[in-house]
Amino acid sequence: MRALIVYVSIHHRNTEKVARVIAEVLGADMVKPWKVKPEELLKYDLIGFGSGIYWWRHHWGLFKLVENLPKVEGKKAFIFSTAGMNIRWYNHRRLKRKLIEKGFEIIGEFSCRGWDTNGWLAKIGGLNKGHPNERDLRKAREFAEGLRTKALNPPASKSP
Ligand SMILES: Cc1cc2nc3c(=O)[nH]c(=O)nc-3n(C[C@H](O)[C@H](O)[C@H](O)COP(=O)(O)O)c2cc1C
Repeated sequence: MRALIVYVSIHHRNTEKVARVIAEVLGADMVKPWKVKPEELLKYDLIGFGSGIYWWRHHWGLFKLVENLPKVEGKKAFIFSTAGMNIRWYNHRRLKRKLIEKGFEIIGEFSCRGWDTNGWLAKIGGLNKGHPNERDLRKAREFAEGLRTKALNPPASKSP
């Protein structure tokens, strides 16, 4: 199985920590969205899309890449993020919708808290200092192990 992680991590490299752990488990390549061509990306069997959450959505670079992709059929993907306010369903909703529109099958989502010193939060040392921490990264590892199992052993399709 060939796996790729497309990620952006600009604030404190919080998401990069998570991306590295997942990549290690999956043996995945890691790339920034502006460095990968759609045709290269489609050579992979499993593709992860992740970033910090900036103004309640993933980084625009991921959206731009997904918009430039052709429609795909049955390609497996997963979504991950770190955020000041870890509200996964809300933070992931837009990217998830875009990926589904393109034909991706989302086989998992992961998120955790990330150190956030955006705006006035810097004055108080930020929110979630120390995150992602050991526990967050252990959960990311478990998530990736689950993904590996799902990607390698998809549930048998129902006979008609
Ligand atoms: C410009 C900016 C906007 C942000 N907007 C949000 C937000 O809307 N919701 C949230 O929960 N966190 C927000 N955050 C916090 C980041 O999501 C959090 O710090 C994340 O872990 C950053 O990941 P990174 O270090 O990989 O870039 C924002 C941070 C920045 C710098």
